[in-house]
This record gives sequence, C-alpha cells and structure tokens, in this order.
Amino acid sequence: MAETYRIDVMHGVNLNMLGRRDPEHYGTLTLLQLEQHISEYAAALDLEVRFTQTNAEGEFVEHLHALRELADGIVLNPGAWTHYSWAIRDALEIAALPAVEVHLSDVKAREPWRRVSVIEELCVASVAGRGVEGYREALQKLRAAIEQARG
Ligand code: DQA
Repeated sequence: MAETYRIDVMHGVNLNMLGRRDPEHYGTLTLLQLEQHISEYAAALDLEVRFTQTNAEGEFVEHLHALRELADGIVLNPGAWTHYSWAIRDALEIAALPAVEVHLSDVKAREPWRRVSVIEELCVASVAGRGVEGYREALQKLRAAIEQARG
C-alpha cells in the first residue's frame, strides 16, 4: 500500500473567479468544481489534499511560511503573481518543500509577460495548458518527487 502524503493545493489571485473568466484559457469550471476534480485525482493517488485560495499576496506568503510542518508537498497556481512576485518566490524557498507549479492555460504561448515564472526554478515540475487534467499530472509528479526525496 502506498504511503499517504499531505499536499497543500494553493490557488492565488483571481482564481476564485473561475467560471467567470475567459473560458478559452481557463475552461468553464468554478474553483469549487475544479477542487472537486483535484480531490478525486488525489484520492486515486493516495494523497491527502488541503485547499487555499486568496487574493491577498501577504496571506499567500504567510500560508507558505506556515506549511513546513503541515504538508509534504505543494501544488501551486499563484495566478498573475507567478509572473512577478519575488515575495512569493522567496516564501516558497522558505517553505522548502517539493512543489509543482500549475497553470490552466498555456502561459508560455500567451502574452510575453506571462512567459516568465519567478517560481519555476524552485519547482520540481511545471504543468501548463492542460486545464483541469494538469492538476492530475502535477499530483503524480509531486508524489514521484516526494518518494524520490525520501528514498
Ligand atoms: C493562470 C495564468 C496566469 O497568467 C493568470 O494571471 C491567471 C491564471 C493559469 O492558471 O493559467 O490568473 O495562472
């Protein structure tokens, strides 16, 4: 039987507005529906998930500060903060947990400013442009990275 790991899934700015955002990039699911799918993917992978969403950058940072003892890994979609928040980048470094970055849309194929990710170098993997399915891939990659780190 596989070991269960605790995964914190963090959604950043404007992701609570899913369902009202451009469906071409973000699909039609609400955040709650997205999180229901993620819960199913997690259960199938023997992972325990906890969700957070905030539009306040400081709260996102403080959540990362608190995670060290509470989670074994992080899946994060910081929304637009991905592209410029050095504060979130530093907080992710402080969290010092395996992390996978996810974007619903294909950020590398959109506007030039979205092609930059300040957290990419700290993540074991980045998944973008795969919609909801991207979260399944992210959880799989995160489980593999945790297992590898623990030998
Ligand atoms: C996003 C991509 C970001 O560029 C954008 O600002 C978001 C969502 C995504 O999931 O595709 O809010 O992170």
